[in-house]
Amino acid sequence: MTGVNTHPLGPVVLGVETSCDETGIGIMAGSTLLADALASSVEEHARFGGVVPEVAARAHVEAFLPTLRRALTDARLRLADVDAVAVTTGPGLAGALLTGVGAAKALAAALGVPLYGVHHLAAHVAVDIVEHGELPQPCVALLVSGGHTSLLAVEDLASPTGLRSLGVTVDDAAGEAFDKVARLLGLGFPGGPVIDRLAREGDPAAVAFPRGKGSDGTFDFSFSGLKTAVARYVTAAGGPAGVAPADVAAAFQESVVDVLTAKAVAACRAEGITDLVLGGGVAANSRLRVLAAQRAAAAGVRLRVPSPRLCTDNGAMVAALGSLLVARGAAPAADDVGVDAALPLVARGLGGQR
Ligand code: KG4
Ligand code: ZN
Repeated sequence: MTGVNTHPLGPVVLGVETSCDETGIGIMAGSTLLADALASSVEEHARFGGVVPEVAARAHVEAFLPTLRRALTDARLRLADVDAVAVTTGPGLAGALLTGVGAAKALAAALGVPLYGVHHLAAHVAVDIVEHGELPQPCVALLVSGGHTSLLAVEDLASPTGLRSLGVTVDDAAGEAFDKVARLLGLGFPGGPVIDRLAREGDPAAVAFPRGKGSDGTFDFSFSGLKTAVARYVTAAGGPAGVAPADVAAAFQESVVDVLTAKAVAACRAEGITDLVLGGGVAANSRLRVLAAQRAAAAGVRLRVPSPRLCTDNGAMVAALGSLLVARGAAPAADDVGVDAALPLVARGLGGQR
């Protein structure tokens, strides 16, 4: 580290997240979160029923400085107090990622501080340290977002070789299924929060939707068959107006969270691991949180789930993983580091994408 750190809580790490539709700037000092500023372009995408990459990229460019200034104000810091910059290099939308990496490089160069490239999904796990302290390792991580559904054995989150993939979705991601089913029901975008709310008034047993790969003995997932089953059900009823949307939402949601929680707990048992961490936007789901808590308790597994605000995309998660890398003395990113829209989680390692 080039700068001489003077913050009493530890090195100040500025995290930049621009992989999708949220512009996030988080600031950590040591293991303490000082700021988590967020700007979202989600409303600009709603009428298209999904995130439009160029719209997202333009919105990041517009939101970057206001969000950065808000984070610094919240943290009561000046830019010159920053000791390291961390930025999401992938996976995500290439154009959106480029805006964050370009800005983060400029900041790091101007400040004369190191730049760390971080993996978006690893950051979803790392953010748990903000509220619950040091990550128990080894642990099993269930990552459920709009683009990914993964079960991982995490031996060392800050090491390029500290992760093992236990299972992934073979088709749609869990969040993608929520978004697609919401569209089928005419509920708008993004689908997760609205299905979560609506399902509270519905009967999860009203429709027997399939449990994709639910009892195949692997830790892989499949949600496209479930989505098709919901589509068939809605079509057979003559369209969304012919169904009880709260019941469909509840039954669909139950199918997703049943399989996710059963496999996560089974993975802990198979690995002999007693700590489970949830992360990613779908981990904000209220039913998933309740069922995971019940099943983990029954299996003697300790469960850690960040508060919903930290489950969906934000800058704190990038600052959190950045702070782990700084504490570890990890090598910073190369000057010519780029973005990788499909950055693999395990093959290339998590933290030190160079
Ligand atoms: O992690 P995230 O913010 O962005 C990605 O990395 O993809 O996850 C976004 C996904 C969306 O598919 C959204 O519908 C879903 O998370 N989501 C939820 C909830 N809140 C967000 N899914 C279910 N229940 C929720 N409460
Ligand atoms: Zn995410």
